[in-house]
Amino acid sequence: MKIIVTRIIPERGLNILREAFGEEAVTVTQQEGPIPRAELLRIVKGADALLPMLTERIDDELLDTAGPQLKIVANNAVGYDNIDVPAAKRHGVIVTNTPGVLTETTADLAWTLMMAAARRVGEGERFLRGGKWTCWSPMQLLGMDIHGATLGIFGMGRIGQAMARRAAGFGMKVLYTDSFRMAEGAEKSLNVTYVDKDKLVRESDFISCHCPLTPDTRHAFSTAEFAAMKSTAVFVNTSRGPVVDEAALAEALQSGKIFAAGIDVFEQEPKVNPALLECENAVLIPHLGSASVETRSRMAAIAAQNIAACLRGVVPPHVVQG
Ligand code: GLV
Ligand code: GLV
Repeated sequence: MKIIVTRIIPERGLNILREAFGEEAVTVTQQEGPIPRAELLRIVKGADALLPMLTERIDDELLDTAGPQLKIVANNAVGYDNIDVPAAKRHGVIVTNTPGVLTETTADLAWTLMMAAARRVGEGERFLRGGKWTCWSPMQLLGMDIHGATLGIFGMGRIGQAMARRAAGFGMKVLYTDSFRMAEGAEKSLNVTYVDKDKLVRESDFISCHCPLTPDTRHAFSTAEFAAMKSTAVFVNTSRGPVVDEAALAEALQSGKIFAAGIDVFEQEPKVNPALLECENAVLIPHLGSASVETRSRMAAIAAQNIAACLRGVVPPHVVQG
């Protein structure tokens, strides 16, 4: 058996694979940075299972190179836009992800970004560390209130719903839009109101993206959307970078079309649009949504369990339908 893990992941995941299939079955590439494509293509040859990160592109070329014995690609992420799922289907390869375990952790981070951007935490910290703080001032670094404001959730999946639950504690009104409307009872119990995207964009004080990246959501937020937002709006993205037109976002931040943004994901990670880096009113962090000790450990375990099930001939718990 040959199982390839493309990066060092928490031990909990590796141990599941080693216990099930033996030490020698599991190859973990040892570099910290992303595995170069040529190296990836070299090591996947003859693999029965692949445990890649969201940084690895899994496509026809890779699946062909791996060979017909490959049975499963167990992504170490909930999002799987890095995987050509139809291509995997054509190759008879199962694709799995790690839903559920990272929901609360990712919502925690989106909430962190919302608050940090609204209350100018990044800017304030730079100000203080830069030695510019000479006196408390009644007009210094004034931000936006979160409590009592309107939160617009773009994409009401598990993470969007976790945001709605947090919003209740802050006395916020919650609007949401999604391609699917929730059942009335679910809307009632979460205290959320379904609106179309235009209304969400116009009426929200905070807008947070929790959709997957698909052809429909690519650049869902661009010049027109930012222009329609309140000038006091705070925009947050912890979903996938290409959901947002980064150049349009930078322009909106610079020209004051919106108040601030908190951004965890970028169009061409790890590159960040230089214009965005210039924006004092943007809080920018390096794709940390699921990055807690416990959650990353659980994600690795789930990815490993998906592989263990598949290689034992059982349908894995988290098969992606594409
Ligand atoms: C992280 O971005 C994930 O999709 O798990
Ligand atoms: C992902 O886990 C989502 O459904 O938001």
